[in-house]
Amino acid sequence: MAFGIIENARKVFPARDLGKGAKQDLVALDDASFTFEEGEFVSLLGPSGCGKTTLLRIVAGLIPRTSGNVIVAGREVTGPYGDYGFVFQAPGLMPWRNVLDNVLFPMEVLHRNDAKAKARAHQLLEITGLAGFEKARPHQLSGGMQQRVSLCRALIHEPKLLLMDEPFGALDELTRIEMNDLLLTIRNETRASVLFVTHSISEAVYLADKVLVFSRRPARVALQIETGFGPVRNQGLRFTPAFSTIERQASEALGIVGIGHEQASPKVAA
Ligand SMILES: Nc1ncnc2c1ncn2[C@@H]1O[C@H](COP(=O)(O)OP(=O)(O)O)[C@@H](O)[C@H]1O
Ligand SMILES: [Mg+2]
Repeated sequence: MAFGIIENARKVFPARDLGKGAKQDLVALDDASFTFEEGEFVSLLGPSGCGKTTLLRIVAGLIPRTSGNVIVAGREVTGPYGDYGFVFQAPGLMPWRNVLDNVLFPMEVLHRNDAKAKARAHQLLEITGLAGFEKARPHQLSGGMQQRVSLCRALIHEPKLLLMDEPFGALDELTRIEMNDLLLTIRNETRASVLFVTHSISEAVYLADKVLVFSRRPARVALQIETGFGPVRNQGLRFTPAFSTIERQASEALGIVGIGHEQASPKVAA
């Protein structure tokens, strides 16, 4: 059995909850189905507003699905559970806590903030290049550093599943590339499964074992591509024919190949 099974997941936000103007129910997810294995990295691409965040929140048990099945590690998801880490686009750190205490926060909630947890926090800060910043406050860090703290916080309880919702969307290109390689290193060490939402096609392909392209809302899986790139990659991969082929397939599924600007009328020489 697969580690994660999403089967005909459907989510309807009822009109009565959408405010006065809403006349009809909003179908955010429509029979979305896919599976993922332990340690597998799955990238999720899809038009803005198609239901990707909704899907991640359903997998996390943060919101109920309207129908369908969601099974993670052999258990049906019926509410939030301890075995995942969630990283959002905004780092969401507590400004009054230093870096180390932000990373350790989940362990306080879980009543597991012991010496072992502290040792792991230091280890994660080391891996992510944040050693020496344990006592710094979030506002003293760059955006990329804050997102690395957020990643450490998501990993502190050694989850088997990492849910990431456009985590590097606010970072500049170079920082994002560094974060991509860091994330792959961490995935290879922890063997956690990753569901990674991004709007960057290139990032999706570079990171993934499997790329899922979702349709416009209501989201369904329009295309699944196994990249076959293996666990170890380097940035040169982006410039290979195999990479371009997958980028093109994903772009076509998103409906963006063939779109372009209007041909300018040739200037008449004066
Ligand atoms: N709590 C909610 N109540 C009502 N509608 C929602 C709620 N959350 C999301 N939606 C709607 O569901 C659709 C999908 O949203 P979302 O999952 O955030 O899309 P994506 O992450 O792909 O951009 C959008 O039309 C959004 O307005
Ligand atoms: Mg979203």
